[in-house]
Amino acid sequence: MKFKKKILCIGAGYVGGPTMAMIAHKCPDYRVTVVDINHERIDAWNSSELPVYEPGLAAIIKKTRGKNLFFDKDIAGQIKENDIIFVSVNTPTKTFGAGAGMASDLQFLEKTAREILKYSQSSKIIIEKSTLPVKTALAMERILSSAKGKISFEVLSNPEFMAEGSAMKDLENPDRVLIGSRETISGLKARKELVEIYARWVPKEKIITSNIWSSELSKLVANAFLAQRVSSINSISVLCEIADADVSEVARAVGLDSRIGGKFLNAGIGFGGSCFKKDILNLVYLCRFYGLPEVADYWESVVKINKYQQERFILHILSTMFNTLAGKKICILGFSFKANTGDTRESPAIYITRRLLAECADVVISDPKAMGNAALDLADEAGEISYIKNPYEAVQGCHAIAILTDWDLYKKLDYKKIYQSMVKPAFIFDGRNIIDHKKCFEIGFNVYPIGKPGLSHFKNQPGI
Ligand code: UDX
Ligand code: ADP
Repeated sequence: MKFKKKILCIGAGYVGGPTMAMIAHKCPDYRVTVVDINHERIDAWNSSELPVYEPGLAAIIKKTRGKNLFFDKDIAGQIKENDIIFVSVNTPTKTFGAGAGMASDLQFLEKTAREILKYSQSSKIIIEKSTLPVKTALAMERILSSAKGKISFEVLSNPEFMAEGSAMKDLENPDRVLIGSRETISGLKARKELVEIYARWVPKEKIITSNIWSSELSKLVANAFLAQRVSSINSISVLCEIADADVSEVARAVGLDSRIGGKFLNAGIGFGGSCFKKDILNLVYLCRFYGLPEVADYWESVVKINKYQQERFILHILSTMFNTLAGKKICILGFSFKANTGDTRESPAIYITRRLLAECADVVISDPKAMGNAALDLADEAGEISYIKNPYEAVQGCHAIAILTDWDLYKKLDYKKIYQSMVKPAFIFDGRNIIDHKKCFEIGFNVYPIGKPGLSHFKNQPGI
């Protein structure tokens, strides 16, 4: 079959895989290829055990793979073959040198730019999909502009706003698609080409265009604003506990103001995921770099509150359980950073588990999708950890349960049966405020939510 457009994506991760699957699904007359230096990942995309869990993804892969969606190992050959190249490689926080712990590590991106330059035999449109600090396109352009002869490259910014766990829904029905380009004749032509791809299924008014720097910055700012809401409500949750208020009631009252809105106001143990912390620290680094310490401090406080909320949760478990956790068995229900994903990057569960182990607790980890990643994250831990997927088996003989992910499954468990199999007094620390606290208290548990009074059977012990 002759395809109308040939699209390549470099990087077959959480962003590249699902995004390309959606393009292939919506544009059956386009050929979409995804490559990665990690050959195991490519093998996994070509198998029945996909490397990324997203509701709805497997069905789309099944429909498109081998027809107009291909996962391939030949990076050089595919660069030659394709005219439109999405770059979706990882840009983690730097762990070394200048900006360590804050700035983005752009080595994978730079390597990709150099590969594109080396293997291209014709002009191409290069689209930045990875989350990047502002002005990355400039670095990309500078590397690519050293091309000899008649070949030229147009670099576009097209940040991805999808959230994990709802990636396919977000990709199919996005709030907006943002495309940034240079405002030159060739930049605008490339922009039009990318608009055409999305216009196959996204209403035109939702496809917005801007200059390339606004586009890059918008991604960082969107994530910083979302994370800021979570830290704002979390900062209020501690006040609620002390003032006998209920953070869910406060969030509802505040969120019903249409100027504020009700989303991202769930108090809990804090945000995780590959984007929020990384993007805010990136923003902080940029502000410091440009000599704006007040702005940098403002955004850095969002990350500080997030850490504070996790530390507070641990100290609360410790003080409630009579100031010692040594030898006590604590079951962690949920290890992924949010529900409906097996991803554990920056999951609050990692820090909380490590702190529990440091208190010499025995930790049992249970999660419907993240057991493999949890074991990798904690591979260096010497403490007592067991991994038991079935929650009813996991809680047996435990002194306490800590709910760390908002999986629906945990709302529906038979807590009576669970209570019977645990050591008494039994405790539940609901780090996501998802279970029926009153019902669990009536069963016999001592129940401690976030941002609301605890329900304790102990005389003279305050709820929190
Ligand atoms: C985020 C952005 O939402 C998305 O637009 C961007 O493309 C990537 O980063 P993601 O990290 O997948 O997506 O998940 P998100 O739903 O934003 O949740 C992030 C974290 O915040 C999770 O740990 C979640 O549990 C936490 N959260 C979210 C809360 O604690 N309370 C809330 O009210 C909402
Ligand atoms: P994201 O969440 O941004 O998609 P991931 O880490 O899930 O991040 O995916 C990024 C992918 O990019 C990884 O599979 C990694 O192997 C791949 N990658 C990194 N550098 C290169 C490169 N130079 N060429 C091809 N693939 C790369």
